Amino acid sequence: MKSKVVVVTGASSGIGEATAKLLAEKGHKLVLCARREEKLREVASSIREKGGEVIFLRADVTDIVQMEEVAQAAIAEFGRIDVWVNNAGLMPVSEIIKDKVDEWDRMVDVNVKGVLYGIHACLKIMREQGEGHIINMGSVAGHVSNPASAVYSATKFAVRALSDALRKEEAEAKSGVRVTVIAPGAVDTELLSTITDLDARRDDEEFYASTAIPASDVAKCVDFAIDMPPEACVDELILRPTLQVH
Ligand SMILES: NC(=O)c1ccc[n+]([C@@H]2O[C@H](COP(=O)([O-])OP(=O)(O)OC[C@H]3O[C@@H](n4cnc5c(N)ncnc54)[C@H](OP(=O)(O)O)[C@@H]3O)[C@@H](O)[C@H]2O)c1
Repeated sequence: MKSKVVVVTGASSGIGEATAKLLAEKGHKLVLCARREEKLREVASSIREKGGEVIFLRADVTDIVQMEEVAQAAIAEFGRIDVWVNNAGLMPVSEIIKDKVDEWDRMVDVNVKGVLYGIHACLKIMREQGEGHIINMGSVAGHVSNPASAVYSATKFAVRALSDALRKEEAEAKSGVRVTVIAPGAVDTELLSTITDLDARRDDEEFYASTAIPASDVAKCVDFAIDMPPEACVDELILRPTLQVH
């Protein structure tokens, strides 16, 4: 199998960390970013201990210049970008009536604009290469909207919408760039730590405790999408825990 250069945003914990570790084991070269540098260093050390190739950068996905710097670092170190995984995200859910406007803004900034800035940073490079693969982390919340998750769901619907349009644009242009959405259900990560509304957090903690699957299961979906032959594009992959109803 061809070794690819893979950028993962939000690689300091959860799905991003698990994805980075699995892809490194599969022989890919990793470029990791997130805001917590110490956590990134730990992930990178564990990859290097197993013989993997990895670099990491402190970067915030809401800063377009920092996203460009991540792309430049990947090119400087490895000469190309084969896959860019827009994984960074947060989920401070609450009912609209709670009026947590700052958290609405933050979710739109990270979950939507952060994905767009990632695409901005890598798309022209992939077009010039004549191939590439953009993988955006959606959610089942991009298909169903439930009480307390209006804004989070809206951001994940947006990820699905922009990914679908981008996939069609790249297909029409015959650019060789593939676009995939991975849409997990409940996954055991640090995601619930961003919830400040105590009612919503209690509900989600109970649900996740009984239902959530490990982040390594989602990493396998990313690996599957990457591993498909270049003429085949996994459009969207929805992965629910077996016990998750909605
Ligand atoms: N867990 C689930 O049940 C679930 C289900 C469906 C979809 N997802 C999606 O999966 C993705 C990963 O979440 P997770 O579950 O793995 O949660 P997590 O453990 O909290 O990981 C979130 C990651 O995003 C990074 N991040 C947050 N804000 C950032 C910013 N402004 N700039 C750069 N990095 C940022 C965090 O790193 P720093 O704090 O170090 O920056 C962290 O590495 C998210 O898009 C989430 O919506 C999760």
